Amino acid sequence: MKKAIYPGSFDPITNGHIDIINRASALFDKLIIAVASNKSKESLLSKNERVEILRDSLSKNSKVEIDSFEGLLVDYAKKKNIFTIVRGLRTLSDFEYEFRMAIMNRNLDKSIETIFLMTDEKYSHISSSSIKEVYTLGGDISPFVPKPVVRNLNKIDDEKNNK
Ligand code: COA
Repeated sequence: MKKAIYPGSFDPITNGHIDIINRASALFDKLIIAVASNKSKESLLSKNERVEILRDSLSKNSKVEIDSFEGLLVDYAKKKNIFTIVRGLRTLSDFEYEFRMAIMNRNLDKSIETIFLMTDEKYSHISSSSIKEVYTLGGDISPFVPKPVVRNLNKIDDEKNNK
């Protein structure tokens, strides 16, 4: 069985991530979407909220499993016994960051291989940071994210307002 891990902070998941997940799951028998904290980014959603949103967004894809982890990706990969990492590349500016991360992971564990899928050009302008900015300033994010993101953000806002 060919398995791979697609790790990310997914804060929130975007249509660009969904495109990578759909294409990667056609290449593998099982794709684990592994939600991690990215310590260098301020988060909008808690890890549990991100996991719930991913489950809602990907419920129809039977090859996908949603999980989360703490600590190093290489340790998580070892624990799962899966040594292929999938990442998406949008623009040239992603390359340096992704290259550094892939090399670091390989230095930490020689059995780890990272493969890159090119993001469909219609999603190359989308990033989780820009979604967060548009959302917090009251703009409409629905064209860029799966429906459960909008639903959950509205629910979280309602809960906050009712406190
Ligand atoms: N289409 C559109 N946007 C995409 C995309 C696609 N196909 N693929 C990625 N992106 C965007 C995301 O929206 C996000 O935007 P942002 O920078 O504005 O937030 C960015 O590209 C990358 O986000 P994401 O894919 O969610 O991953 P990440 O870079 O936040 O994740 C981890 C990094 C979690 C994989 C990494 O930090 C990690 O492995 N952490 C565990 C600790 C560890 O092992 N550290 C050592 C690693 S060297």
